[in-house]
Amino acid sequence: MSMKKVLFVFGTRPEAIKMAPVIKAFVADNGFEVKVCVTAQHRQMLDQVLDFFEINPEFDLDLMKENQNLYQLSADVIVELKPVFESYKPDYVFVHGDTTTSTMAALAAYYAGAKVCHVEAGLRTYNKQQPFPEEINRQLTARIADLHFAPTQTSRANLLNEHIAADSIFVTGNTVIDALHFAKTKVETINDEEIETLKQLIDPGKRLILVTGHRRENFGEGFVNICNALQQISAYENVEIVYPVHFNPNVYDVVYELLAGKSNIKLIKPLSYPAFVWLMKRAYLILTDSGGIQEEAPALGIPVMVMRNSTERPEALEAGTVILVGTDKDNIIANTHKLLTDKALYEKMSIAANPYGDGTASVKILEHLKAYSK
Ligand code: UD1
Ligand code: UDP
Repeated sequence: MSMKKVLFVFGTRPEAIKMAPVIKAFVADNGFEVKVCVTAQHRQMLDQVLDFFEINPEFDLDLMKENQNLYQLSADVIVELKPVFESYKPDYVFVHGDTTTSTMAALAAYYAGAKVCHVEAGLRTYNKQQPFPEEINRQLTARIADLHFAPTQTSRANLLNEHIAADSIFVTGNTVIDALHFAKTKVETINDEEIETLKQLIDPGKRLILVTGHRRENFGEGFVNICNALQQISAYENVEIVYPVHFNPNVYDVVYELLAGKSNIKLIKPLSYPAFVWLMKRAYLILTDSGGIQEEAPALGIPVMVMRNSTERPEALEAGTVILVGTDKDNIIANTHKLLTDKALYEKMSIAANPYGDGTASVKILEHLKAYSK
């Protein structure tokens, strides 16, 4: 019998980071024929990840356009995947999480008659506007998918509530932890130019506040508030803010306009994954609206203030490493103040927790698919 064919489709930085260990597990196992297709919804930020994990996609749709919009991108993903599916004829198509790439690829894979495997399934806020458009992307992908790899029991329960068949849901942990395990020790020993530059950049005598942000619902007023809060926080004694700014022009232009050249605030380009992990490990506190960082930071024992009003990742909140602070300037400042001055609170929030798994999610996904495809 010929080997079943698997196609991994992804397009952005976080999907690549979280899909990389799954691809590695499948390639090492040799039980399936494996190919990779990147939509390149992101370009530079995707290529940074492909380089680090040494993934060479067989198909590259090269879709990214400057300040792209959801309509065109969605259409492009579907149209450009048609010839890929028609030539490779995959049995299984893997998509990840909640991006435009993942939902449109799931739909296209369904059109092509492939079975759709959804990694990081079942996260929900049940608020259509937060995160936008990711909440709806996740719900749509759940309707389409045949196999749902849920990171936690909470995400499994969400899927069950939506009448997804119990025998199609597998709780595996989140592959972000697999990637982190791979990178975490490596970054202390590798000879990496970016890490060397960071060593020159940061002041080890100061408390490092690491910042990232890119959510669409925070564009405009939200980012202005965040920047104004950062400017006030930078005046604290012994504090240094390092902010790798996302390339989305709705973020980049505002952040550079408001914060470039301010003392104690270092704006830098998005970091490659190993350099970012290296920097996270040295952070006193992380301020972010990112999804993935809410999962990584608890494993590293770094407190996180999440600049959102709701999260699809309640596990980290419950573990106590993460607090929601929204994008209200005074609220961000007040919570940062607490974490800089209240030692007991800081220590409570710095206890490493691992609600997202033990680093074996990728192998579990592989074993589940093997059992399923027998
Ligand atoms: C996308 C995802 C979001 C995910 C985030 C991770 C959607 C709708 N959004 O948001 O779910 O959390 O990625 O970062 O799927 N750009 C570059 N170079 C890059 C990447 C982006 O220049 O390598 C710029 C381009 O001008 C691009 C713009 O950023 O048009 C927006 O990229 P897009 O993927 O549409 O949105 P993100 O905000 O990155
Ligand atoms: N990350 C990175 N370089 C950076 C900032 C973040 O490699 O400069 C990594 C981070 O470790 C995490 C992922 O990118 O694994 C999160 O991506 P992002 O915040 O863009 O997307 P989200 O997780 O919110 O979808």
